[in-house]
Amino acid sequence: MRINILAIESSCDETAAAVILNGKILNNIIASQSVHTTFGGVVPELASRAHEKKIVSVVNDALTSAGISIRDLDGVAYTRGPGLIGSLHVGASFAKGLALAQGIPLIEVNHMQAHVMAHFLPEQKPQFPFLCLTVSGGHTQLVLMRDMLQFELLGQTRDDAAGEAFDKGAKILGLPYPGGPLIDKLAASGNPNRFRFPHTTMPGYDFSFSGIKTALLYMLRDEIAKAPDFIEKNLNDLCAGYQQRILGMLMEKLKQAAEDFGIKTVGLAGGVAANSGLRSLLNKEASRYGWQVHIPDFGYCTDNAAMVAITGHYKFLQGSFSELSAVPVASLGPDMAFGS
Ligand code: KG4
Ligand code: ZN
Repeated sequence: MRINILAIESSCDETAAAVILNGKILNNIIASQSVHTTFGGVVPELASRAHEKKIVSVVNDALTSAGISIRDLDGVAYTRGPGLIGSLHVGASFAKGLALAQGIPLIEVNHMQAHVMAHFLPEQKPQFPFLCLTVSGGHTQLVLMRDMLQFELLGQTRDDAAGEAFDKGAKILGLPYPGGPLIDKLAASGNPNRFRFPHTTMPGYDFSFSGIKTALLYMLRDEIAKAPDFIEKNLNDLCAGYQQRILGMLMEKLKQAAEDFGIKTVGLAGGVAANSGLRSLLNKEASRYGWQVHIPDFGYCTDNAAMVAITGHYKFLQGSFSELSAVPVASLGPDMAFGS
């Protein structure tokens, strides 16, 4: 049987589409929105408008590069949530219209599950049980997969996401948005032990990253009062210390969960998976504990439609289809559920 699925992702500021044929990704088209750069963060209203403008051409590009037309599609998958509600509506409405017009199944995809499912795109797929740390600008989650499409949310952030902590810290240090990659770069030549930041302890496998940015803010306020060029003189060491603390909090829970559940297969997902410090820490722990580590290519870690497509493919195989009346959802309920 041939299964050709078109996937659409529009949860934040990337308008993305991908075509997957029998579980093999044919393309992964992404139009990023530059309109937000001057605002230092994503402006929801502008994001929805940009999706509306770009969605037709992005889908067209995906179909054209796959060498197919909409008549060749067997299903259409879309991100139902979580995300910016206006942005989600654009992708959802487009997918519904297409499914209805073509008389093909509609498949709703959970964006957080899709990040984890990005690991099943390459030939070499993780073995179950598989523990995934998803770290992006909007989310921080520890998810355990015991089988295909079985997701158990072990823990998540109670406030800021890890990427958000990077971005907010960078902003306080006067660095441009998104600051994560810059902190990573500057930290590489800094001393992580010169400036100490608080380690917030949360129950279970939950995280909290709002305290560290406040600690940075207060430290800078006090130090700049004594020496106005404090940031300039200590930027690398500040970044190194700040990054080390965020990574320490992430790794602590990952190691704990791996030990508690006897996991040997571990992965990273989300934009922060690009962090070089996190990657080397993970590899270090992997050789210590005998973990097999999976990190998808960077293009599959940040928001993309290929991860929606692979999730859609497996849901199609299960016959897990969605109603046309399904409403986009901005935030997930407990256990990553959409709710009713
Ligand atoms: O997954 P993503 O592209 O978008 C969502 O938030 O869904 O993640 C973006 C986040 C931003 O917070 C960005 O600062 C962070 O990933 N990021 C990094 C690095 N590259 C991207 N954070 C730390 N180090 C990096 N090298
Ligand atoms: Zn995401």
